[in-house]
Amino acid sequence: MENFFRFVKPKIKEATLYYTSLVENMKVLIATEKPFAKVAVDGIREVVEQAGYELLLLEKYASKQQLLEAVVDVDALIVRSDNIDAEVFQAANNLKIVVRAGAGYDNIDLAAATQHEVVVMNTPGQNANAVAELAMGLMVMAVRNLYNGTSGIELKGKKLGIHAYGNVGRNVARIAKGFGMDIYAYDAFCPDEKMVQDGIQPLHSAQELYSTCDIVSLHIPATPQTKNSINQSLLNLMPQGAILINTARKEVINEEELILFMQERKDFKYMTDVMPAADKKMNELFEGRYFATPKKMGAQTAEANINAGIAAAKQIVDFFQNGNTQFQLNK
Ligand code: 3PG
Repeated sequence: MENFFRFVKPKIKEATLYYTSLVENMKVLIATEKPFAKVAVDGIREVVEQAGYELLLLEKYASKQQLLEAVVDVDALIVRSDNIDAEVFQAANNLKIVVRAGAGYDNIDLAAATQHEVVVMNTPGQNANAVAELAMGLMVMAVRNLYNGTSGIELKGKKLGIHAYGNVGRNVARIAKGFGMDIYAYDAFCPDEKMVQDGIQPLHSAQELYSTCDIVSLHIPATPQTKNSINQSLLNLMPQGAILINTARKEVINEEELILFMQERKDFKYMTDVMPAADKKMNELFEGRYFATPKKMGAQTAEANINAGIAAAKQIVDFFQNGNTQFQLNK
């Protein structure tokens, strides 16, 4: 409650005015360059309108200007990977809360949000199964030689390394068990006991993970510490025939070094849902052992959109009605 008042005070004299019954014309904007499935938008609308608020929609916007114009008088914002920077906060005069319908929030300038007294939240776990299923799909695609008709290998019995054992990593582990893989994980922030409980073998450094595993699935967030951290020296540790799956963020890869490494290691495959800047070049250089989805689609399922979108809408209503800041990121 303390935080709630800390954030709302400068926006409005009487914090109690936030309570639904007293608030008039509360506007919630969904601003998604990559839209939710319609069924998810319908669900969000129901939650928002039931609370007595108005839902506005800005989908597939082609320029930042459109976003800046759309946010001018909204009270709450639901976004996906949309870039919500200082300029957006500056333009959004009435904004009190932004919810990133998803897990990673590297697209939101938290410092600028705090400066403008805006609460930022995410919806952790809501799209994790969808991303994990895509990671497994990319894994199958890799071991079957990108479905080119040649003889591949099987996932059963292979060593899978999960780099970061969060919501997505845990779902990957659950599904990979069904494939009969040997599963290892490294996560500096997750206790060994949690992994052991799940039947996963904990390792204690990225070096140990990459040198042990045939396939590594990346689930680290993009932070100043992790950016460019997947580099040539780490990849060099991987065994012959190794595969790297990236459904996390392109920024965590040192792209230049990945290219150098793949030029040397002709046995190595890279499959990603976050297209590298050098996609064209990599397609030309690494035909048959490189694949990138045309647009990040890990969380692009009706179920994930419904789960994350509706969670976002409920968190907004709960924030306005009860001051609930459970998922606040800029505390
Ligand atoms: C996330 O961080 O939640 C995922 O990367 C999904 O992102 P998206 O909503 O942009 O598809």
